[in-house]
Amino acid sequence: MTPVERYLTEHRSRFIQELCDYLRFPSISAQPAHAPDMRACARWLVERCRAIGLKTELCTTGGNPVVVARTPRDRRQRKPHFVVYGHYDVQPPDPLDLWDSPPFEPSIRGDLLFARGSSDNKGQHMAHLNAVEAYFATGTELPCDLTFVVEGEEEVGSTHLGRFLRDRKADLRCEAIVISDTGIPGREHPALTYALRGICALEVVVRGPSRDLHSGIFGGCVDNPAMVLCQMLASLRDAKGRITIPGFYDDVVPIGAYERRQMKRLPFTERQERRFLGVKQLFGEAGYTFVEQRSARPTCEINGLTSGYQGEGSKTIIPSWASAKLTFRLVANQDPSRVAQLVTRHLKKVCPPTVRLEVKGGHGGAPYMLDPKSAFAQASLRAVRSAFQCEPVLLREGGSIPIVTDCQRILGADALLIGLALPDANAHSPNESFSLSIFDRGMRMSAHLWPELSKVSRER
Ligand code: BES
Ligand code: ZN
Repeated sequence: MTPVERYLTEHRSRFIQELCDYLRFPSISAQPAHAPDMRACARWLVERCRAIGLKTELCTTGGNPVVVARTPRDRRQRKPHFVVYGHYDVQPPDPLDLWDSPPFEPSIRGDLLFARGSSDNKGQHMAHLNAVEAYFATGTELPCDLTFVVEGEEEVGSTHLGRFLRDRKADLRCEAIVISDTGIPGREHPALTYALRGICALEVVVRGPSRDLHSGIFGGCVDNPAMVLCQMLASLRDAKGRITIPGFYDDVVPIGAYERRQMKRLPFTERQERRFLGVKQLFGEAGYTFVEQRSARPTCEINGLTSGYQGEGSKTIIPSWASAKLTFRLVANQDPSRVAQLVTRHLKKVCPPTVRLEVKGGHGGAPYMLDPKSAFAQASLRAVRSAFQCEPVLLREGGSIPIVTDCQRILGADALLIGLALPDANAHSPNESFSLSIFDRGMRMSAHLWPELSKVSRER
């Protein structure tokens, strides 16, 4: 065992306590009322990074602050530089009554630490911070310079981060960016994620009469915005799960034969999945396996649908308006702004003249794909393999991390996605959890990573 590994073992319980402290902040980026919690959480992180020995700044961006923490630089040596990205913001915890323990009161049951943000993403980037602490505290030299960039707006589309990266390009220029914000298929199946889906978010509002109307007095002669919206939304997809917007699939790169073989090796079965999700039957685009459907094919989802009376009992009205929040998950080589245009054009075409339609653009992020044969990808796989003591799988993931393509474009660096969340971690759901034994392996993975990646950059 190296001194770094011994240190990680000896300080395990403090690391868990500190992670619990971090998880107590309700850093919900989607809700403006939590702005003070966002700042408090970021300030806590700044203190934690400083205590480790990192040169740390709290940076303003126009949105929630970004924490930037650098290993002290030694001017006499030119070391390779890597950025580690994470996010301290979390998704809203609702519905609260489905949580077995309150979302912001971390609770450990067996190997699992339950709290909103435990897997997505506080636990995951803390693993990297703790590994750096272990290097410093044991006097082990890091073979590279590191900069941690931990933002507070990932869950709402990272709207201010692109600009921030551009402004700081000189400081952040790096060989690669390491991100642990994805999943692994199982405890014995650690992974390198080589592709993420992109996203295009939109809001659709349909307006009818100037106020809610009596549905008996006026029903039959005035169009119903809720009905119209439902019909329009229903026209986005056919019964076979194919999106019917003209041009939507034009830029989609088909799934490679090699990828199909990889996906078949993953430890998922339809039966298990159906049970785990509590659905009667899985549903997806015909002609694809469910693993392909949820990672390598684009989708159209309604995330929220609002109209009319939703309180107790009934209220006989024609609602004045109806609205829906939509997101499309995109795959290589779809472009989020082109998709937004295609969707808007289609909705305008199918909208009847009886209502007014508004389509509001939301956040967007391009899909990401890395060559898993690249030297950095292979070096990451070595670090994962030695920490988990088993053979990692290559994954395409269905989620999005909008910043990864910005990093490629702005910093010229590929993202190495080595996540630590288990499939039943309940990210974005009630009872989110993080496995503490995976936390241990994640810290070791991080410790192994820096020598592996640095070797590659020295050989380049
Ligand atoms: N950690 C996730 C992204 C993720 C999840 C990647 C699972 C791969 C597998 C991240 O925090 C996230 O949830 N991102 C949002 C981004 C969106 C709001 C722009 C997402 O994917 O919904
Ligand atoms: Zn998330």
